[in-house]
Amino acid sequence: MKHEQHRNMNRFYILLNVLTFAAAAVNTGSHSLCFLSTFIIGETPFPEFTVLTMLDDILMTYYDSVEEKAVMKVGQQLNEEKQTFADMIFGALHEGMRDQANFLKRHFNYTNGVHAEQRLDCCELLSHNKPGGMKMFDAFNGLNGMELDYDVHHHALHTETKWPIVFDTVKLEYNKKLYAYFLHPVCIEALETALKELKNHVFRKVKPRVRLMMKPHADSGGARVSCLATGFYPRHVNLTLLRNGQPVSEHLVSGGELLPNGDGTYQMRKSLEISAEELQQKNNYTCTATHLSLDNKLDIHWDYDPGPPTAVIASTVLLVILVCLVAPIAVFIMWKKRHVVSRTSSQSDYSAASTTEEKELEELKN
Ligand SMILES: *[C@@H]1O[C@H](CO)[C@@H](O)[C@H](O)[C@H]1NC(C)=O
Ligand SMILES: *[C@@H]1O[C@H](CO)[C@@H](O)[C@H](O)[C@H]1NC(C)=O
Repeated sequence: MKHEQHRNMNRFYILLNVLTFAAAAVNTGSHSLCFLSTFIIGETPFPEFTVLTMLDDILMTYYDSVEEKAVMKVGQQLNEEKQTFADMIFGALHEGMRDQANFLKRHFNYTNGVHAEQRLDCCELLSHNKPGGMKMFDAFNGLNGMELDYDVHHHALHTETKWPIVFDTVKLEYNKKLYAYFLHPVCIEALETALKELKNHVFRKVKPRVRLMMKPHADSGGARVSCLATGFYPRHVNLTLLRNGQPVSEHLVSGGELLPNGDGTYQMRKSLEISAEELQQKNNYTCTATHLSLDNKLDIHWDYDPGPPTAVIASTVLLVILVCLVAPIAVFIMWKKRHVVSRTSSQSDYSAASTTEEKELEELKN
């Protein structure tokens, strides 16, 4: 049972990632608002029901069945009217998902253990603020079972179900009206409002920090050249590794996955393995990044430059140390020795010199 639970939870997180990325993979210029809801049957450390609201890839609100209150994660908290409305919608979603999850658990003859239903509801605004359609994906224990696609321009609802949920004419008409008069306008209005209120987050531009690194492989004599761009927003970036000014063929380059940094920014790394022979060729590797935050492309150079031979540097440095440091010290010490000797001799003749000035004068005379 433990194993089964574990597997289900794993599937659940994999799906979560896939859905989040699918939803956020929107073109620049368009924006989406998505509700990612999870209902869990069985004992887990998590609340039975949670909803995350994502504005593009920004976590906007969090709601769970323990607090029953939508909490803004960015910007200002909701006003009283919006708060009541959001809590009511999420409460209704909770009820709906409880019924569906229990129905599916009975249908699949599942007994004990942990079972999770996940739903993703998204609406989008296309470029020039043109409202797009609305999509819903529903999955149980990590397996997609139902998809709804509402086309606002043709007022059409496309449904696809693997579960025994029949969309007969009556149910289809009811759902079309539900989308047309409630779900779609509410979602679009929430999206428009959120874009206005959170414009400092949505439209922020954060420059990537780009580094080109080389890690030698002690065993093979080869090396790995990596270009890392990190800390940028939005997520769209083009990172290119070049060898002697020419882009390295993509199939030789590994990495390139976009990874979240956890602070709302992203990172991407691209690497190239170079053999010991190639390393001998002393190629010039560079890295280029293009990003919305950069007016021009950012070129990062790292020339393969072995520098002047070490022996020459060492002897030069030694000479400099000798001339600048050792010689004056030697002179000083020699002078100091004489100084001490003469001082001792003058001290024996105490009466002749009572003050320092007089002593020094005396030394100078000597
Ligand atoms: C669940 O059990 C019933 C009765 O044993 C059976 O008829 C049905 O096919 C099972 N359902 C699934 C999805 O395995
Ligand atoms: C990346 O390259 C593609 C193709 O050249 C281009 O259309 C896109 O605008 C570039 N993206 C960025 C962020 O520079």
